[in-house]
Amino acid sequence: MRGLTGKNAIVTGGGGAIGRAISLRLGDEGCGVGVFDIDGEAAAETAHRIEASGGEASAQTVDVTDYAAAKTALERFRDDAGACDVLVNNAGWDRYGEFVDTEPAHWDRVIAINLTSALNMSHAVAPVMKERGWGRVINMASDAGRAGPPGHAVYSACKGALIAFGKSLAKELAPNGITVNAICPGPNDTPLLEELIPDAGDREALAQSNPMGRLGVPEDIVGLAAFLASEESAYVTGQAISVSGGRTTHG
Ligand SMILES: NC(=O)c1ccc[n+]([C@@H]2O[C@H](COP(=O)([O-])OP(=O)(O)OC[C@H]3O[C@@H](n4cnc5c(N)ncnc54)[C@H](O)[C@@H]3O)[C@@H](O)[C@H]2O)c1
Repeated sequence: MRGLTGKNAIVTGGGGAIGRAISLRLGDEGCGVGVFDIDGEAAAETAHRIEASGGEASAQTVDVTDYAAAKTALERFRDDAGACDVLVNNAGWDRYGEFVDTEPAHWDRVIAINLTSALNMSHAVAPVMKERGWGRVINMASDAGRAGPPGHAVYSACKGALIAFGKSLAKELAPNGITVNAICPGPNDTPLLEELIPDAGDREALAQSNPMGRLGVPEDIVGLAAFLASEESAYVTGQAISVSGGRTTHG
């Protein structure tokens, strides 16, 4: 993919399933990758895998819902590797539950991890991208943010908000050579999906109902992430793109 060699990318939640797959692909494409995750061991494992295949990577244990902690981690990354060119806001979390059965403490956690974290990181990174006249922000939204599945009301609200946030930010930052886009995975076969849909039979039924007859896997996401991070997508901004095997074709 043109324009990725030598770029610095940060992937939040880079120790998780989709974040690790994206980190590995960006590392393969010649990016130096900063793996930010609250799970330090998982982040270190991702960085180790990138280095083992000849790439450059570092790992930081950081709670990206905490603005000060996110800024400190970013400054440490900049001191060690240089400015961040590509930010992938990928950290996310949810649990299944009908809205009336959930509590404000749950909403707060869902909002912090799925939405506030992306605001924190984008706010910390964008000024330097503006100064440098180039940048890529990729928000990991979800088809939940477009379709609104039952049992995920607050998560869907956050992912919808993330899409809208990206559209506004894209217009603000377009004059500075910075693009902002959202990836909307459909159900993707990761540990998070097992938490969301604990019953294996229900997951299989979901797979069968997909036009392609299967769930997504993290590797389905990485090509689009690399494209949106690259020079190839320079005129693509403010978009939300589904990667769902054709499950979601509207909006
Ligand atoms: N799996 C799916 O079906 C699916 C579908 C649509 C969208 N998504 C989105 O894709 C992204 C990745 O999901 P996944 O399936 O790989 O999940 P995952 O649980 O494997 O990975 C999420 C990662 O985020 C990290 N994280 C959580 N809170 C954090 C915090 N406060 N600070 C830093 N890191 C934190 C976790 O430690 C984990 O490594 C999420 O944003 C999720 O909402 C997933």
